[in-house]
Amino acid sequence: MPITVAMCRPLKVAVLGSSLGWQCAFAALSFGISLDGYEFVEYRYSAAKHFVDAYEIPGVRYFHQDAKRATVDWENVEIIYMTDLLWDQPLRDTIHEHIAKNARQGTIIVSNNPISSDFKKMGFEHLDRDLYVPVSWLEKQAFYVYQLA
Ligand SMILES: C[S@@+](CC[C@H](N)C(=O)[O-])C[C@H]1O[C@@H](n2cnc3c(N)ncnc32)[C@H](O)[C@@H]1O
Repeated sequence: MPITVAMCRPLKVAVLGSSLGWQCAFAALSFGISLDGYEFVEYRYSAAKHFVDAYEIPGVRYFHQDAKRATVDWENVEIIYMTDLLWDQPLRDTIHEHIAKNARQGTIIVSNNPISSDFKKMGFEHLDRDLYVPVSWLEKQAFYVYQLA
């Protein structure tokens, strides 16, 4: 039986590193937003896709792609969430460059890491919107919020 979304708002989010996809599915079902998830590891991508297909969860799409080269819907995406808590610096740097080169002005970027000087030089402004949230893997997970100027 299809699952009905709770609310409806035309907001589009890209999640870089969508893994098994539970965050995308949760956000789509709770807030009625559209999400595109990009995951590098094939079995994670397949499991996420199987779940949204099996339960007919609307608004979520998964792509088996490397976030360094992801073909994000740059024109329509308003928020990009980088699940970068454990990404190493070279990977983060390459993904920052990819976003800075392609995302449109005003795009909101959410990261689990504080801003680096390079990130700042690329035009990412740190907004006064950071969140600290208890999650299953950490008592106080930081979500830093940036905007592409
Ligand atoms: C912290 S997990 C994300 C958790 C996820 N949002 C969820 O709902 O479960 C980070 C993910 O980033 C993925 N990842 C690492 N490097 C990547 C890359 N270059 N491109 C895409 N995904 C990558 C990992 O495979 C991992 O699944």
